[in-house]
Amino acid sequence: MRLLECVGLTKRWGALAAVDAVDLNVDAGEVVALIGPNGAGKSTVFNLIAGALRKTAGSVTFLGEVVDELSDFDLARRGLSRTYQITSLFPKLTVLENVRLAVQARESTRLNPVPSKTLRATTKIEAEEWIERVSLTEQSWRLAGVLSHGDQRLLEIACALALKPKLLLLDEPTQGMSVEETRSTVRLLKTLLNDSKVAVLLVEHDLEVVFGVADRIVVLEQGRKIADGPPESVRADPAVQRAYLGVAHA
Ligand SMILES: Nc1ncnc2c1ncn2[C@@H]1O[C@H](COP(=O)(O)OP(=O)(O)OP(=O)(O)O)[C@@H](O)[C@H]1O
Ligand SMILES: [Mg+2]
Repeated sequence: MRLLECVGLTKRWGALAAVDAVDLNVDAGEVVALIGPNGAGKSTVFNLIAGALRKTAGSVTFLGEVVDELSDFDLARRGLSRTYQITSLFPKLTVLENVRLAVQARESTRLNPVPSKTLRATTKIEAEEWIERVSLTEQSWRLAGVLSHGDQRLLEIACALALKPKLLLLDEPTQGMSVEETRSTVRLLKTLLNDSKVAVLLVEHDLEVVFGVADRIVVLEQGRKIADGPPESVRADPAVQRAYLGVAHA
């Protein structure tokens, strides 16, 4: 069974077909990058899948179940989590507290909740493990709001992973990062994604990041899917090269 299956995904704003009959699949454990020039429809696809926008036509199936009408909360409970382009952390809480809240949120949606005392101890240990995995251990006592932009994005990824999703939607995870921060984030993402079984759908402008982490690349242009395949074949695809004409890395 497909983890995520979008069929004929369409979003129109008046005469503009921002997303035009796009088919898009993600299998368990797969890292899929969604790329395309400005205005191609990437964010719109993302928001249609995440339940943040209403589709004009088409359907989204997650784990064999049509999830068209579900809220982002219900999607998260089923194992589909997202990060936000704008940071969604609690700035007045510490790094550790932010991750603990994510672990607790996950545990509290279980049918048989763990007794609260045991939960407090285990969430701390687990939160510390996630923090270690994104290399923020030395910052774990600091308030999230005072971290550098790059570290805040890493903390967001830790929080999203702490929800233990089956599919993680990552919205431009390296946006606003320095070249150095971007490089180390790519290294980190690679290890994290190798270790955990999570599948990822990634919207990303930085093609170095895309080619660094993706198993498969889907290319949009003016709302339509123009390519879908492994990185090498997408890179060599003439239609993709045309779409990216004038863009440095293509
Ligand atoms: N709320 C809206 N109302 C009308 N048109 C919109 C709206 N949001 C996006 N669009 C249009 O839909 C098209 C696709 O936009 P979208 O933001 O999905 O592109 P994108 O691929 O994410 O671009 P970028 O790389 O710039 O982030 C664009 O032409 C955009 O102007
Ligand atoms: Mg966008």
